[in-house]
Amino acid sequence: MENTVIQTNKLTKQFIKWRGLSSPRHPFEKKIFTAVRDVNIEVRRGEIFGLLGPNGAGKTTLTKMMCTLILPSSGSATIAGYDLVRQQEKVKASIALVSSEERSFYWRLTGRQNLEFFAALRGISREKAARRIPEVLDQVGITEAANRRFQEYSTGMKQRLGLARGLLADPEIFFMDEPTKGLDPLATKHIHDFIRENLAARGKTVFLATHHLAEAEHVCDRVGIMYDGEMKAHGQVDELVGDFTLADYFHDIISESTVEH
Ligand SMILES: Nc1ncnc2c1ncn2[C@@H]1O[C@H](COP(=O)(O)OP(=O)(O)O)[C@@H](O)[C@H]1O
Ligand SMILES: [Mg+2]
Repeated sequence: MENTVIQTNKLTKQFIKWRGLSSPRHPFEKKIFTAVRDVNIEVRRGEIFGLLGPNGAGKTTLTKMMCTLILPSSGSATIAGYDLVRQQEKVKASIALVSSEERSFYWRLTGRQNLEFFAALRGISREKAARRIPEVLDQVGITEAANRRFQEYSTGMKQRLGLARGLLADPEIFFMDEPTKGLDPLATKHIHDFIRENLAARGKTVFLATHHLAEAEHVCDRVGIMYDGEMKAHGQVDELVGDFTLADYFHDIISESTVEH
């Protein structure tokens, strides 16, 4: 379809797990574990697609594959019109990954210095970065904190800086892995509003992985439900939630997985 910006075809990721055995002749046993199995997804331009599933479902593995951070074991995908494996550089230039992984920032550098560093990594010239950084800081509302060290940031500010980093190169697609993890309801609302008003409303495509049913319901146009590495269902949120058996079943597994938060 012309407007399709993400399409995966039986995307699969297997990990090899070595298990120690006591036998001296066979000290290790090799086990193949399928974290993502035969996933087919189609996401259209400007859509907010939610990948909903409990911890361990394979959401992060699938997201990392689509961002070229790990190679698929089999299957294929087209991201922004480029082949995920053969045109990795073009795919990278078309996307941003916003995750809740705060270790990816430099704690001793300020927010601004972090953005300068990542702009350079992305091949943005100094002049362009000097123009762009104040814009993105302003867009996510952390201009005031720009000269403070990352280590002094609250969780909400760290998430916003992650968004600012994603915005630097103005990519077409935003992949977000648990973007509101650890945030209070108000900070969560800010991120949700931002996704709708500053990304989707401007034609950006958002692929959002979450284990919160409510987040998927509030923010996403369509969701795919992932469990045990497989896409079990996908469709409009209200269709899925309206489907009694599905809603019941997934509500149980998803609420179980959110107990720790
Ligand atoms: N590098 C890896 N090696 C082996 N197993 C992994 C690796 N990364 C993830 N897994 C396993 O894949 C499964 C899916 O993990 P993940 O994609 O992180 O799920 P989610 O993001 O939905 O919580 C888990 O069982 C996890 O232990
Ligand atoms: Mg995850």
